[in-house]
Amino acid sequence: MEFDVFTLLPEVFSPYLESSILQRARQRGLIQVRVHNIRDWATDKHHVTDDEPYGGGGGMVMKVEPVFAAVESVLGPAPACPVILLTPQGRLFTQKVAAELATHPRLALLCGRYEGVDERIREHLATDEISIGDYVLTGGELPALVLIDAVTRLLPGVLGDPDGAADDSHASGLLEYPHYTRPPEFRGWTVPEVLLSGDHARIARWRREQSLRRTLARRPDLLQTADLSEADRQFLERLRREDETPNS
Ligand code: ADE
Repeated sequence: MEFDVFTLLPEVFSPYLESSILQRARQRGLIQVRVHNIRDWATDKHHVTDDEPYGGGGGMVMKVEPVFAAVESVLGPAPACPVILLTPQGRLFTQKVAAELATHPRLALLCGRYEGVDERIREHLATDEISIGDYVLTGGELPALVLIDAVTRLLPGVLGDPDGAADDSHASGLLEYPHYTRPPEFRGWTVPEVLLSGDHARIARWRREQSLRRTLARRPDLLQTADLSEADRQFLERLRREDETPNS
């Protein structure tokens, strides 16, 4: 999988890309990340990449020419891959969107800065717009890293455990069950007995029920679209009834 990132802050990418799982994925050739500095395509003496908004008002707007020049010189005049603008106005990034993006062999990521980007970049260059959440950051660099991270860990061979991504929170549409590791007791807080039992069927059932419990308590909205069996539905029904029963 290849990522081409277009940014005015290329230096912020290396520390994260050169750590842990992304570093290993790069070294093993599972991903390639090329970070391009948009400023290198600004042709004026001072390499200006922003300007005042037409119509007045505060803030600066990212200029159209250097962004087009950067993307077209790297990807050609008619890019074949998705060109994704990171912006708080985009569609919301979810695990499902990450899985969809992971099917492409190459992605171009455009990081906006300043107050916004010239509208012609959105209209005539970007093929997709993605937001990582309903809050505003100072630029699209962190969102681009979030996207690269979430997509990369879905690629075959990236995680040590081949099923590693399958149990994740959100992978099945539910939140993940709780995890424990040694020691079995810490400050009097013990690990649930079932996890020490060695009974794999019981453990699987407990984990599923914990996922359902957590999702019902924290993100009941996810239950509308989660992949649920008849047993799951009955368990949820029981939980809802218990919740309604007064305990005095
Ligand atoms: N740029 C600034 N805020 C952003 C967000 N929430 N998502 C994507 N890009 C952004």
